[in-house]
Amino acid sequence: MSTVYLNGAYMPKAQASISPDDRGFLLGDGLYEVTPFYQGVPFALDLHLKRLLKGLCYLRIDYDVSGLVAMHHELISRNGLAGAERSMVYMQITRGAAPRTHYFPEIPVTPTVYAFAKEWSRPADEVWNLGFSAATVPDRRWSRVDIKTICLLPNALAFQAAKDKGADDAILVRDGVAIEGAHQNFWAVFGDTAVTHPVTGHILPGITRGILLEEAREAGVSVEERPIQVEELEFATECFFSGTTGEVRPVVEVDGRPIGDGTVGPVTRRLSDIFLARVEATKKAEWVAAS
Ligand SMILES: Cc1ncc(COP(=O)(O)O)c(C=O)c1O
Repeated sequence: MSTVYLNGAYMPKAQASISPDDRGFLLGDGLYEVTPFYQGVPFALDLHLKRLLKGLCYLRIDYDVSGLVAMHHELISRNGLAGAERSMVYMQITRGAAPRTHYFPEIPVTPTVYAFAKEWSRPADEVWNLGFSAATVPDRRWSRVDIKTICLLPNALAFQAAKDKGADDAILVRDGVAIEGAHQNFWAVFGDTAVTHPVTGHILPGITRGILLEEAREAGVSVEERPIQVEELEFATECFFSGTTGEVRPVVEVDGRPIGDGTVGPVTRRLSDIFLARVEATKKAEWVAAS
């Protein structure tokens, strides 16, 4: 049985209970973050917490995040995941339990903080090397998806629509632009330049996306942030998604048509290697600091 964190206490998951009046349950009034751990070492936890803080400010949820780093480590440890190749902490903060109103509770309530840890795995090399498929689906989300709210129904419906079409994932399309995936950022390669949508209210500023941009620039890989028209995908030589538990995920087919020659291309491979090297460097730096 996994150990979860709820409102300051660790407990077996079966003992965790949340009020039916919780505004997260009733209104989707909350935020979440998913932070990866590699062999017990957090990867970019500071960036995940920074994004969370931005969301808390936007939602005007008053919560002191100072204990969250320790909580993340504790959950990994209590669930026996310190040695796991890949694990993660899912954390959700809602405004709290209060009589259901569309306005904020008049008597301030304590936010509900729930978190769990679990293992995840990267696809086997044979699978990754074949690449994945995607289907374009209309983006029906609101215009502040840069805030990582728990309101994921449009994402779930889009993912399901792609799955129903036999694809592995969805590319959300707004006004003819390939915005991002249902749970990952989207990239396309034109010539030798990897292109991804700029940060606006229409994408989630992925931590993986940001790290890839930074590392690519450092390594001299050409990158550009600009909208990608769906019609342009015909001329893309490669496509891929980026995200916390997807890392760099090659897309070799969109809407049943091959991208480029339909195989995983060199820019995708290079960026994947660069990303994994950053993970390795983070692990080593942590181990050196702890020794
Ligand atoms: C819609 C969406 N875009 C992009 C991402 C990737 O963000 P990150 O790299 O921080 O995991 C996510 C992750 O949950 C997401 O839900």
